[in-house]
Amino acid sequence: MEVMIYKTYEEISKASAKVVADIINSKPNAVIGLATGSTPLGLYQELIRMHKEEGLDFAHVSTFNLDEYVGLTPDHPQSYHRFMHENLFNGLNIQPENVHVPSGTTSNYKAFCEWYEKRIVECGGIDIQVLGVGSDGHIAFNEPGSSLGSRTRIKTLSKETIDDNARFFDDRSQVPIYAITMGVGTVLEARKIVLLANGANKAKPIADAIEKPVCCMCTASALQLHPDTTFYLDGEAAADLKMKDYYEWIQAKKPGAPAGT
Ligand code: F6R
Repeated sequence: MEVMIYKTYEEISKASAKVVADIINSKPNAVIGLATGSTPLGLYQELIRMHKEEGLDFAHVSTFNLDEYVGLTPDHPQSYHRFMHENLFNGLNIQPENVHVPSGTTSNYKAFCEWYEKRIVECGGIDIQVLGVGSDGHIAFNEPGSSLGSRTRIKTLSKETIDDNARFFDDRSQVPIYAITMGVGTVLEARKIVLLANGANKAKPIADAIEKPVCCMCTASALQLHPDTTFYLDGEAAADLKMKDYYEWIQAKKPGAPAGT
């Protein structure tokens, strides 16, 4: 695990976007796992800027989103389909057939979840997965208590997540109760993972994920089992880390470290 602490949200966004861009530049048909929510918006703006100003090419890139609300049609203003098109895909030259967002309105969720898992494998597996973290420690919509071996399936959202996401809806009662989400096991199969977090409300889940025992009560802690995960944090999100000084020391010494460190 690597923990990178930055002063600003903009720095987190630019540093993580560079990692995604490096993968696309070295593998034009890279498969990218994507998240919604407020956290990755700066990263997505930076990818759009790199596409427009530096020619970052998405023509052969495939994407898989982590999750979608059950019951929302793709054109619903709060659907994750719509969010991704408005905040990322419309600004890129990505091919519509290479974009995958779980269906919130399929007539057969079990079959759809199995298909989604198979489709990831058919495309060669996820090269890099972008993650945010919930205030309850969830990754994707794997709420506390989710199996750390879980696969794509329907999850009932926690009250805390419904409260957190109510800001996007006119009324809390409109927030869907169920979501279709990649499992923790699905996420852990990505070759590389970047988790972004900013703001004081992420300090506790970040400390639990990085420095507490691996536990289903904070599904982000499962990332301790992944061989190539980097956390991109601002000072507020890193505030409760006991080893914060050490992570900053490693970061400062990185340019002089032996190759492969
Ligand atoms: C969204 C997702 C969630 C969010 C998390 C943080 O696709 O999978 O796990 O990453 O809820 O959301 P924000 O970034 O809005 O704080």
